[in-house]
Amino acid sequence: MTKLWLCVWALLPGLCLAKEVGIHELDLSHMSAGWGKPQANQGVVGRPLRVGRKEFQLGVGTHASSRMSVALDGRAVQYSALVGVNESAGTRGSVRFRVWVDGVEKWRSPIMRGGQAALPVSVDLAGAKQLTLVVDDAGDGITFDHADWIEARVKYDGAKPMSIPDPYRLSVGVPNWPWVLVMDENRRLVQDMGAGVLADPAYPTSGNGWILEPALRVVHSTGSTGTDLRVKSMRSTELSTGQRHSVIELEDSIEPIQVDLHFLATPEHNVVEQWTEIRHRQPSAVRLTHFASSALNLEAKTYHLTQFHGDWGREATMAEEQLGIGIKVIDAKVGVRAHQFRTPGFVLSLDGALDEQKGRVIGGTLAWPGNFQFLFERQTPGEGRGDERLYVRAGMNPFGSDYLLDPGKSFVTPRMVWSFSDKGSGEMSRQLHRWARRFGMRGGDRPGPVLLNNWESTYFTFDRAKLVGLMDRAAEMGMECFLLDDGWFGATYPRDNDQQGLGDWVPIPEKMGPDVENLAKEATQRGLRFGIWIEPEMVNPRSALFEKHPDWVITHPNREPLFHRNQLILDLTRQDVQNFVFETVDRLLANSPSITFVKWDCNRFVMQPGSTGLPWDRQSHLFIEYNRALLDIWRRLAERHSHVEWMICSGGGGRVDYATLALGHEFWPSDMTDPVNRLRIQWGYSHLFPPKAMANHVTRWGNRPLDFAIDVALAGRFGFDIDLEKLSGEDLAKVRAGVEAAKSIREVVQLGDLYRLESPLTGARSALAFLRGDRAVVMVYATEAVDGRALALAGLEGEWKVRQLRGADLGISGRVVLASEGLVLPAMGALTSAVLELERVR
Ligand code: DGJ
Repeated sequence: MTKLWLCVWALLPGLCLAKEVGIHELDLSHMSAGWGKPQANQGVVGRPLRVGRKEFQLGVGTHASSRMSVALDGRAVQYSALVGVNESAGTRGSVRFRVWVDGVEKWRSPIMRGGQAALPVSVDLAGAKQLTLVVDDAGDGITFDHADWIEARVKYDGAKPMSIPDPYRLSVGVPNWPWVLVMDENRRLVQDMGAGVLADPAYPTSGNGWILEPALRVVHSTGSTGTDLRVKSMRSTELSTGQRHSVIELEDSIEPIQVDLHFLATPEHNVVEQWTEIRHRQPSAVRLTHFASSALNLEAKTYHLTQFHGDWGREATMAEEQLGIGIKVIDAKVGVRAHQFRTPGFVLSLDGALDEQKGRVIGGTLAWPGNFQFLFERQTPGEGRGDERLYVRAGMNPFGSDYLLDPGKSFVTPRMVWSFSDKGSGEMSRQLHRWARRFGMRGGDRPGPVLLNNWESTYFTFDRAKLVGLMDRAAEMGMECFLLDDGWFGATYPRDNDQQGLGDWVPIPEKMGPDVENLAKEATQRGLRFGIWIEPEMVNPRSALFEKHPDWVITHPNREPLFHRNQLILDLTRQDVQNFVFETVDRLLANSPSITFVKWDCNRFVMQPGSTGLPWDRQSHLFIEYNRALLDIWRRLAERHSHVEWMICSGGGGRVDYATLALGHEFWPSDMTDPVNRLRIQWGYSHLFPPKAMANHVTRWGNRPLDFAIDVALAGRFGFDIDLEKLSGEDLAKVRAGVEAAKSIREVVQLGDLYRLESPLTGARSALAFLRGDRAVVMVYATEAVDGRALALAGLEGEWKVRQLRGADLGISGRVVLASEGLVLPAMGALTSAVLELERVR
């Protein structure tokens, strides 16, 4: 009921008419309560509104912690009420009532306990847009915190006040992970752990009482290491892509610093990207020593962590462990080609070991080609709150990377990409792949060309006739692109081996002919696209470039430089080096318009992080600024040469991440192309990266049967790295058949959903299925002889028309009804494989 009442404006002369609305008349579904449900005109347990032995008729009974916001139009006048603990609590219960106007606290009660008389409150609302009524637990838990807002009402002159969804509670999550962040009564940002439990800080900072690993640690210009962030604003915007971008602005009132948390949720694929932006208004630079992109607090009984470690030739090796008490870190410290020893991602399984088809699974990967750190911390049990919690901090590795941030400058962290599933790692990966194809990589919507790379067949030793001969064969085989690898450049020091020439990007006429475009035309005349290899971040000391610019390399002053593959890294923090690298590639592409494919390689990491481009007090910026500069060069090249497709290679999988894939259409997973090992490598990577992004080439490594090698490579972007001129007629027929098969199934394989059916890590038989609309492809591999047994075909239930496309006869063809318990496959010989094509029967 709205009453009219006669009022005298305190400061205005004359009489006016104002209206009032009781809080009990508003939609109370927007009022939260730590227990029970808020009630109109009675206490939270359904008893009368009685406080301090007095009974009242009108008001709202709620329970700490409770909050409700009311929208005002700037013409409200006053809020008034009596507050106290309902008699139903006896003498128990202790709460504090608070009134916020436009997010600023205007009134706070003392701690009120059961039995005490009600206290009056009156707050001026002139000009206000929002009123928020808060009850907190007075810091001692919510037991018996039955709180009454008695005769609570808003006097107003304009539009009628209405309760609204809590503006200080933001869902930054996705259907599979309702990630909710809440501003608490002290304006701190906390994560809602479900069931109304507001728990630990959503982005903990060092020096304000948080004693576990912080997400952010700052040495302020005063020297103080305390940072205490409070919420300034919270907002979400729905984007036309179906995504939701949430921004939470946090600030410290003592040391002027602002931290914005960004969340980009893709509900359709259950993926959330998170990153952080830091800036300040202090008189001089602040030192950032910890700067996570994301902090996630988890609650489960057990945590199983799977990482993807490795080294050259052994990339993406999966290792699972149950996390115990303490800290576990997965990281990279080598700065450039930083992923050589660990892929920048992990999979966490909650309440049980990782399973393809069941369980709560979280995949995480950092979109950053440089150093990363994923830190998992579990508290000692028995300390009360948080016994079961796991705190995850993810971002660039702070190791050796203290960052001096100048006033007015902004420090933006890379994006942490989270993928959430409640149906196991299979669904987690499929969602992430779908997100990647749509948002996370270039060219995710079309399959890649079948290509021939000359590296394994020629290494550095070739001439133009050899290359043209390979192009002839490639065209005959139906391939679509010829990729010229290392060895084509180096005027003063010809690149005839890996000891010289890097840095001198001038073609060698004896190997290439007059110029790159001229050779590229040989390819296009044969109906092939032309691709070229380049490693522009690197230099050999035996090069004209190094002789001219010995100071351009990363190393420590006055020390002997440490070499790896006889090369050094150009210091991309220098503007002149950035110009050189950009212009080298830009010029190459501009002068050779027939180049439509580039393989960007990078064959060493940093061992002596010293820069001539950075001042002495900012040497620790090297790892960060190097990779920022690299991404910027890639972005500019992608803009200028948008028709070019890129393979990102780094001596194999030294650079595999979603920042790199924003430029790259594919990555080279490993130089290890023995198909038996490749099965495991591809399986590992597929947890975080789609087959669409994986360059799988057929080589003669391991001397496995050619058809087996072809079938393994068919499970991604397909190509060959083989000397076609040396193959027998029989093998050439196999190659041609492989190319045909790749073309017929690539849309399903590269653009469809991947089902990992049987793991090559646990048995001699392994299997994959790809599903796209009404088409599917099943691939089965036997690395040793295996007996016949059923293959469970999760994801492919229903009636299908099956055709054996390649390989060992599995005895399945025609109309078949598939069920999840599977199909019995026959015994298979060692190193045999089969590919089935399926079409759904409607
Ligand atoms: C390392 C890559 O992984 C190979 O594929 C090849 O491109 C060589 N570099 C060339 O030096």
